[in-house]
Amino acid sequence: MSRKLVPLLPSHDRYIEVFAGGLSMFFRKHRARWNVLNDIDNNIINLYISVIERYDELIDKLFWIPKSRKLFLNFREEIKEGKEFEIPDPYQAAKYLYCIRFSFNKMIHTPFSMNKDMKKAYDEEFRYSRAKIGGATIENLDFEDLINRYKPAEGDLWYLDPPYFVATDRKDYYMNSFSIEDHYRLKECVDMIDENGGQFMVSYDHRPEVEELYKEYDIRTINIHYSGATGEARKKERKEYVIINYAPISQIGLFKSKEVT
Ligand SMILES: C[S@@+](CC[C@H](N)C(=O)[O-])C[C@H]1O[C@@H](n2cnc3c(N)ncnc32)[C@H](O)[C@@H]1O
Repeated sequence: MSRKLVPLLPSHDRYIEVFAGGLSMFFRKHRARWNVLNDIDNNIINLYISVIERYDELIDKLFWIPKSRKLFLNFREEIKEGKEFEIPDPYQAAKYLYCIRFSFNKMIHTPFSMNKDMKKAYDEEFRYSRAKIGGATIENLDFEDLINRYKPAEGDLWYLDPPYFVATDRKDYYMNSFSIEDHYRLKECVDMIDENGGQFMVSYDHRPEVEELYKEYDIRTINIHYSGATGEARKKERKEYVIINYAPISQIGLFKSKEVT
């Protein structure tokens, strides 16, 4: 999806990615003068900080963890239990990445997938990531605390890709649950960005709740293929909403929601 969204980003001095996850937008776009990357999940943040700070140890750990269902299940249990650790902890980062890479569909709650090779070109991939994330400010906050701390202002671009309503329904997509109240709380934060002159882009699932909640903003529909999905699912095109408060220069791939047939 980020491939379609990057051309629609406005110019900005400060870029804040509120729900970092796999950072697909940040990795695809150009770096702003100031970049802030945030996620509430301490395993995600530990992975990024370990890539920057403890690079060699992380690569070494990853290379030598044997491929094993037993290990996968043990690590996953540990992560789910929320065992405490200090950041950066490269071994914890390696275990976390191991669970994601060996999970079916790269989702931590899905079963062990035997057919993946962990020993591929990590070094090359991580060198690129390290160079790109290095210099960014990395936060491990709830979205509301982040927005209060970084006071939205003109020249900002806030990109928000929250857990979707479907994740709220299912409850097991992410380590941190996201309630209906959180979706409403998020809307108030988005309003605050707007009131303070910041630009924002929110991506969301194509659901009536989203259309209703964000009706005063510019809501567009985007057609996408999910890259992580299985063969059958990949063939189907899905729709998602993109909500913005600025006029995009490029219109490629975007439709006013009412115009979609
Ligand atoms: C849809 S994913 C983001 C995906 C991301 N755009 C990517 O490229 O992979 C949502 C992310 O929000 C994080 N999250 C959930 N609740 C949060 C909260 N209250 N504050 C900040 N981040 C939160 C999750 O840990 C998850 O990584």
